[in-house]
Amino acid sequence: MTTDLYTQKILILDFGSQTTQLIARRVREAKVYSEIHPFNMAVETIRAFSPKGIILSGGPASIYDEDAPLADPAVFDLGVPVLGICYGMQYLTRVLGGDVGKAGNREYGNADLFIEDDRDLFHGLGNGGTRTVWMSHGDRINRMPEGFSALARSKNSPVAAMADATRRLFGVQFHPEVAHTPDGARVLRNFLFRICRCEPSWDMASFVKKTIEALRDLIGKDRVICGLSGGVDSSVTAVLLHRAIRDQLSCILVDNGLLRKGEAQEVMELFQQHYGMDLHLVDASEHFLRRLRGVADPEAKRKIIGKEFIGVFEAQAAELGEARFLAQGTLYPDVIESISFNGPSATIKSHHNVGGLPEVMNLELIEPLRELFKDEVRQVGTELGLPRELIVRQPFPGPGLAVRILGEIDRERLEMVRAADAIVIEEITMAGLYEKVWQSFAVLLPIRTVGVMGDERTYENAIAVRVVDSLDAMTADWSKIPYDVMGRISNRIINSVKGVNRVVFDISSKPPATIEWE
Ligand code: XMP
Repeated sequence: MTTDLYTQKILILDFGSQTTQLIARRVREAKVYSEIHPFNMAVETIRAFSPKGIILSGGPASIYDEDAPLADPAVFDLGVPVLGICYGMQYLTRVLGGDVGKAGNREYGNADLFIEDDRDLFHGLGNGGTRTVWMSHGDRINRMPEGFSALARSKNSPVAAMADATRRLFGVQFHPEVAHTPDGARVLRNFLFRICRCEPSWDMASFVKKTIEALRDLIGKDRVICGLSGGVDSSVTAVLLHRAIRDQLSCILVDNGLLRKGEAQEVMELFQQHYGMDLHLVDASEHFLRRLRGVADPEAKRKIIGKEFIGVFEAQAAELGEARFLAQGTLYPDVIESISFNGPSATIKSHHNVGGLPEVMNLELIEPLRELFKDEVRQVGTELGLPRELIVRQPFPGPGLAVRILGEIDRERLEMVRAADAIVIEEITMAGLYEKVWQSFAVLLPIRTVGVMGDERTYENAIAVRVVDSLDAMTADWSKIPYDVMGRISNRIINSVKGVNRVVFDISSKPPATIEWE
């Protein structure tokens, strides 16, 4: 199920840059498969991986730091082209005998790149031309290693790009992977196609075909269970498996009572109508609400929901009979996070939808999407002919509305936030914004505020509306939605959701806030 499917692979060694994932994305956008691995991947493993090229990422360290991350220098002897980016370039320089020193001025942000050699890496960008690039470095190359020549310079870096054309080793001081380097994709494509001689063959149609074959081989005649939430990741996982093994697959949808309005029913109908799958809806809402009674702490809520989910899922699975595998919609960013060289990043919030299930149930895990980014999963969904409403669905947290009711949860508060949420979604959709924004939802605050209704003074609840733009949920900004849309949302919520007399709009970005309020 992993890399053996793909013959044309680029290996990205991660030195800890914030933009390492972007390198992988740019390479895949050029239809070449790429994987990110930690900088200290053993050279025998690299050889077995058999990459057509290696990219060394940037990183926060200085090559002179005592604990600077160092790859095995043998990567330069594999006969495979290497491109070092920023720290990757400095590492390459140091290891191959050049000299790296402190730049007079730290270069951060846009810089002009003067191209002096446009034969390979800068092909098509014009010899003698100037291009805008994005830099972020405190060190620079003072002396290139033997065999290298400069390809470009910038004001603060006499060697902003260099190459040893014979050994096919390259270094760039700037970041070609970021949008602020307008010609960066061209530079990376030159590396992939002119230097590594890759062919652009990685696309979602080939992914689907190969994955279905691999799933059939792996599963044989055994049975697979898949948890379905109605989110795009689990939906695509289920449909991919259904294509591969048809009625050897059973799906379970747990209604924890914390779903959006009409959601469980909608998902059931969509899947039964379109696929005729073996799909089991377990209504465990009473059970979850009982367990959550009196709990106000966000992490405690998440833990309870995660634990109860496992119990309910396990019981339903036992009723269905013997299965050997559990399928999960894990995506590539989750995988990278856990292998990144810093180790699993600090838990800001524990995200667990089905965490812990495979161990408890003694099942083998199948994660057919673990090599994909979110937008690639959407493309796979399109390729598989999933209904559009499933593909474009906004993300929804596993603990559901529980983390959108600040403080304790009860039935009345659930109904309030659910009704307000439905209005937000309806208005955002009618304004044509549903697919433009990342998420749009309502949060019920744990305060009451004074209002006036007719001649009466009221003392009721406040709803916060959160609408954010984001690419990957790692960072987000509040969406500048038109005032009249805000106005309609507010009017409708106050007029029709009993118990609410005030609506506020959240204008915080992430960081320092998070997308969800809990
Ligand atoms: P935050 O609030 O951390 O959210 O900025 C980032 C993205 O993750 C979703 N989210 C969760 N998803 N379980 C999930 O499956 C969780 O506990 C959870 N908390 C947040 C959130 O909706 C956003 O898309």
